[in-house]
Amino acid sequence: MSRRRNIVAGNWKMNKDYEEGRSLARDIVAKLQPSDTLVILGAPYIHLKGVSHIISDINNLHLSAQNCHQEEGGAYTGEITAEMLSSVGCEYVILGHSERREYFGEDDTLIAAKIKRAQAAGLTPIFCCGEKLPSREAGEQEAVVGQQVKEALFGFSAEEVSKMVIAYEPVWAIGTGVTASPAQAQEMHAYIRGLLREQFGEEVADGMSILYGGSVKPANAEELFSQADVDGGLVGGASLKAEDFLAIIASM
Ligand code: 13P
Repeated sequence: MSRRRNIVAGNWKMNKDYEEGRSLARDIVAKLQPSDTLVILGAPYIHLKGVSHIISDINNLHLSAQNCHQEEGGAYTGEITAEMLSSVGCEYVILGHSERREYFGEDDTLIAAKIKRAQAAGLTPIFCCGEKLPSREAGEQEAVVGQQVKEALFGFSAEEVSKMVIAYEPVWAIGTGVTASPAQAQEMHAYIRGLLREQFGEEVADGMSILYGGSVKPANAEELFSQADVDGGLVGGASLKAEDFLAIIASM
């Protein structure tokens, strides 16, 4: 069973060309302070190998992709397998991000298939869930997130789930500058951990890292991360500037 870790993961999304990405990784390496916080860089596919060379000597710095295909290989033009990601030094993969759900029609059945493939290739999935604004306004956020968690994760064994990371990202907070309040984040994280406890037991639930994502900035990170069930963050916009990302890591 995995031990609960504090994690700060950056999701660069579809930003930065290859040299800009390498330069960002170099800036982070140059100024990252040693700590127990696991730091993950979620780079575009094409940057992964180049970034992996830059970060390979740093103990708590790891590499993530932002997606992978659910099949082991074959005639899927333009797609990338989990095994390909492993082969370039990638250890994590973000799956089920709300942008994948929204723009690429991914549902929890497909996401579960991707998680399975990722684990078979030795990757740690970072499973994303989160409700849209109308659900929040209707007070249905727990029902929505609960369904995502159940559909994507409840078909796995306790052992498999213990080797995943979960990220709660309310869609209304992504890229909007509107962050969930620390209390809103804590409430949902506790709810998710409760679901994991019921299905997979105390040990798995307590060992899981549950990250918050959605407009995490240097100014709000410390308060979010200080919540009992918030084990770190999945950071979009602020992960594109070394200074901001490092400040967020330092507030862990
Ligand atoms: P922002 O931090 O830009 O809101 O993005 C969050 C996110 O989607 C991380 O995966």
